[in-house]
Amino acid sequence: MTHRSVTKVFTAAPSHDGDGVALRRAFPGPDLMDLDPFLLLDHLGPTPLAPGEARGFPPHPHRGFETVTYLLEGEMEHRDSWGNHGTIRPGDVQWMTAGSGLVHSELPGETLVREGGTLHGLQLWVNLPKKDKMTSPRYQDTPASSIPVVRNAGGTVTAKVVAGETLGTKGMIETRIPILYLHLTLEPGSRFEQEVPKTSNAFAYVIEGTGEFNDIAVRDHQVVLFDRGGEGVGIANPGPARLSLLLLAGEPIGQPVARYGPFVMNSKEELVQAVDDYQYGRMGVLA
Ligand code: FE2
Repeated sequence: MTHRSVTKVFTAAPSHDGDGVALRRAFPGPDLMDLDPFLLLDHLGPTPLAPGEARGFPPHPHRGFETVTYLLEGEMEHRDSWGNHGTIRPGDVQWMTAGSGLVHSELPGETLVREGGTLHGLQLWVNLPKKDKMTSPRYQDTPASSIPVVRNAGGTVTAKVVAGETLGTKGMIETRIPILYLHLTLEPGSRFEQEVPKTSNAFAYVIEGTGEFNDIAVRDHQVVLFDRGGEGVGIANPGPARLSLLLLAGEPIGQPVARYGPFVMNSKEELVQAVDDYQYGRMGVLA
């Protein structure tokens, strides 16, 4: 398999969002505004929290895209203006299509607040094509037990298939546009290659450890952007520690992106409409 070349490596800067949640924002930022169809990637924690210290994201709206929350440690409770409610735990994924709009809160679970613990997770924003921006909100709350985990022949590489396909195993989450979302773990000394469709944009985010992409060394909290030149992506773990990373690829939508905070539309007029609809309670109200 020929490998895509690395076009850029940069480090996600430490930041805070919501009610004081410590995170690293991979993008948007000075190094990358978006990578069509991906709009944002936040790495929450891992933050050790004393009892009463856990923070989250109080009520805020979304319209025009999807949020994908993947929890590694801790507990997050979700509630929205249309009466949906759920808790995600380690290994679970919530794929939320905000579509025409909602107001939701993403708060630490009761146990995490009471007893303290560690909050660790990732949130990705995936854009929606124009025709789907005003679709009805939809949730795919997927427990860890329903997300396939597959190993290579030697057992040195583990792939959790959130979306797309690897090692002959398909993820079960339905995406509007073709998306590959893999959480890969490589033991020291192992290699892995993943096919990526020629027309997709692809990037990797290193959660933990150090890795090599075409002999370019990368470490934790770094984002790796690839060109579209090869059949796939090659990853190596030179060791000595385990390498944990996300590999993401998606078909570019190729439409104008107008964004204002939690709203991502195609034009300024649609953004003005979104703010208006939110302020007049047309995305519902979260009590
Ligand atoms: Fe949100």
